[in-house]
Amino acid sequence: MMRTRTAQICIDHEALRHNFQRVKSLAGDSKIIAVIKANAYGHGVQAAADAFSQADAFALATAGEAIALRQSGVTKPLVVLQGCFDIEELKILSELSIQTVVHQPHQIALLEQCPELKLKLEVWLKIDTGMHRLGMPLAMVEVAYQRLRACTSVGHIRLMSHLANADEPDHAKNREQLSALGRMHEKLNLETSMANSAALVALPESRLQWVRPGIMLYGSSPLLAKTAADLDLKAAMNFDSKLIAVQQLQQGDEIGYGSTWQCRQAMRTGIVAAGYADGYPRHAPSGTPVWINNTLCPLLGRVSMDSLCVDLRGVAAEVGDRVVLWGKELSVDVVAEHAGTISYELLCHAGSGFVSSTL
Ligand SMILES: Cc1ncc(COP(=O)(O)O)c(C=O)c1O
Repeated sequence: MMRTRTAQICIDHEALRHNFQRVKSLAGDSKIIAVIKANAYGHGVQAAADAFSQADAFALATAGEAIALRQSGVTKPLVVLQGCFDIEELKILSELSIQTVVHQPHQIALLEQCPELKLKLEVWLKIDTGMHRLGMPLAMVEVAYQRLRACTSVGHIRLMSHLANADEPDHAKNREQLSALGRMHEKLNLETSMANSAALVALPESRLQWVRPGIMLYGSSPLLAKTAADLDLKAAMNFDSKLIAVQQLQQGDEIGYGSTWQCRQAMRTGIVAAGYADGYPRHAPSGTPVWINNTLCPLLGRVSMDSLCVDLRGVAAEVGDRVVLWGKELSVDVVAEHAGTISYELLCHAGSGFVSSTL
């Protein structure tokens, strides 16, 4: 069948499996919740569930994501990170034996109003230890716990929190958050989870009973100061395309929409069939590297919907040559840094129109 787009996303299952083994070797005795929300950060949730089959549980963002995964035949424990917002959802989660996070009093009230469920819900009580995103304020945690214990619809209860600055392991806030969670863990004597990828790698004291890595499973570095190669992680998403035109431009010629880039000398340029419709970031500036024939060629001018222009000075490249936007040959972390964003955004976005294909 003819492909509709020249640019393509190819998922390397072997890289996913390799990265999971890296997680496993770091996790030690801690159990692993592989975070596969948002279509596994754009990699395809089924492919990820297969590749991480040794995980102890999977985390999804929403009840809808978890229900779809369960109905597709995945039997592993599933955790809904955003929790439930009505009683119908709670009932379905119970029927499908899906665990839910509780992060606000409204969600406890729903559980209290819920008629007795055939299967009690396993619950993660999420604590706000300082990120101020989702979580029960520290002062309310003990009352929240007692209310959950009194709910006939609630079974096993565990604790969870999330670090705001784990990508900078020396950040003082990490210690504050970890000691706040540690105090609650001791007081309530419940299994507890804190570590995302960055904490799993760089803050061993955060590993506790359950770790929750996401980004490192996909081969991107979770730490600002380390590359994926430093951490022996392999890129799982390969985003590539082809050179579809080569131009010989003259000094003074301007390139692309808005004429934002002007040639200072006569030069050879190439047009790559990849643009923001394919998930390449439109805001990537001139100079962002694109891999062609073992050379990193700088992007020139604005990214268009279906194409972008690269500098081919000194590069032996012809129409039809393979181009890597990111993947094994060029880390998504490097592209993200040039584009002023994070790998998470690029992976989720490029993978959102995901056409399943494997290497
Ligand atoms: C609650 C929670 N836990 C764990 C993770 C995984 O984090 P990371 O992808 O940085 O490892 C996320 C990701 O956003 C999250 O929201």
